[in-house]
Amino acid sequence: MHRLEFKKVYKRFGEKVIAVNNANFFVDEGEFVTLLGPSGCGKTTTLRLIAGLDRTSEGEILINDKIINALSPSERDIAMVFQSYALYPHMNVFENIAIPLQVRKMSKSDVKTRVGSIAQMLGISTLLDRKPRELSGGQRQRVAIGRALVREPNLFLLDEPLANLDAILRHRMRGELKALFHSVDGTTIYVTHDQEEALAMSDKIVVMNYGVIQQIGAPEEIYKRPVNKFVAVFVGNPQINIIEAKNAEDMSKLFSSSKVNALEKLTHDGKVEIGIRPENIVLGKGNIFGKVTLIEPMGANLLVSVETALNSEKIKVKLFISNTVKISEGDDVNFSIKESELLFFLNEKRVDVEG
Ligand SMILES: Nc1ncnc2c1ncn2[C@@H]1O[C@H](COP(=O)(O)OP(=O)(O)O)[C@@H](O)[C@H]1O
Ligand SMILES: [Mg+2]
Repeated sequence: MHRLEFKKVYKRFGEKVIAVNNANFFVDEGEFVTLLGPSGCGKTTTLRLIAGLDRTSEGEILINDKIINALSPSERDIAMVFQSYALYPHMNVFENIAIPLQVRKMSKSDVKTRVGSIAQMLGISTLLDRKPRELSGGQRQRVAIGRALVREPNLFLLDEPLANLDAILRHRMRGELKALFHSVDGTTIYVTHDQEEALAMSDKIVVMNYGVIQQIGAPEEIYKRPVNKFVAVFVGNPQINIIEAKNAEDMSKLFSSSKVNALEKLTHDGKVEIGIRPENIVLGKGNIFGKVTLIEPMGANLLVSVETALNSEKIKVKLFISNTVKISEGDDVNFSIKESELLFFLNEKRVDVEG
């Protein structure tokens, strides 16, 4: 398997659009790396550059330390699974999976063996005679993946392969895909706009916004130590609470005095914001008071919106509690915050605050 590297890669479309803006990252052999970001941030373009379907405007793409910019898609030997699956409607499942092997003029019996074992791995052995229109979304998706796997390529590229599936299937396929690509030891670059999917599946996540890589890191690092407010807000469901730190008196309701002093100093340098993940607010303990405005049941947990006064205005925070707690909309409540888990942002960049 292979290692991929981007060095100062740009992709421009015309004068105005910079779809990929100075991308630098690597994907190690056998690694499962996810490109994560909102729609239009340059994920598909990045995959197309790797596959050779688009050419870079600047910079170098390397596989195993060799520059591949000039190679055609077929010389790169990279398998890409498109969001649309791109199956041939007039061919059955067997033929759809076998295409890459037939292009290579592999013998009929070898093709049969190879397609048979891939189909078994994907649990679609009984569907080989069917046409794509006779398959469910999840089955079509497996066929598209089968066609990628059968080639034993240098790299796998997957562009939002689960986006068209219903929620339950998407959840199940997440786990299956992760196990599958690890079992074939495939170097895989996976694209999604779904942060939960990225957290659940990846060895490493590359977070993008407007063509610019924001952060590269393991899922836990991205979640716990986001480099900026964009990453903190984009990753995590329900979203992180963001509160602006405006004055010391209000802050002293939330934090110990040493932290308040440090925060106050920071406000001289620009806009200071505090990020509080919902799971780090503890209800029923502490000296911050508020009123419950909304309760959203989420299975074993309740997502509770509490309105509290801060900065001489009303702000809302969301927090999680177990669904066994008796609570109603309109209740007066008190809560505290796990200070050690707070994130601080100065002009949108995360900073460490002592105290
Ligand atoms: N062929 C193209 N011509 C012009 N602009 C394009 C083309 N392909 C993509 N773009 C633009 O580049 C940006 C990134 O697109 P894309 O890579 O498809 O984003 P994503 O896959 O993250 O949703 C978008 O602003 C998109 O409109
Ligand atoms: Mg896309």
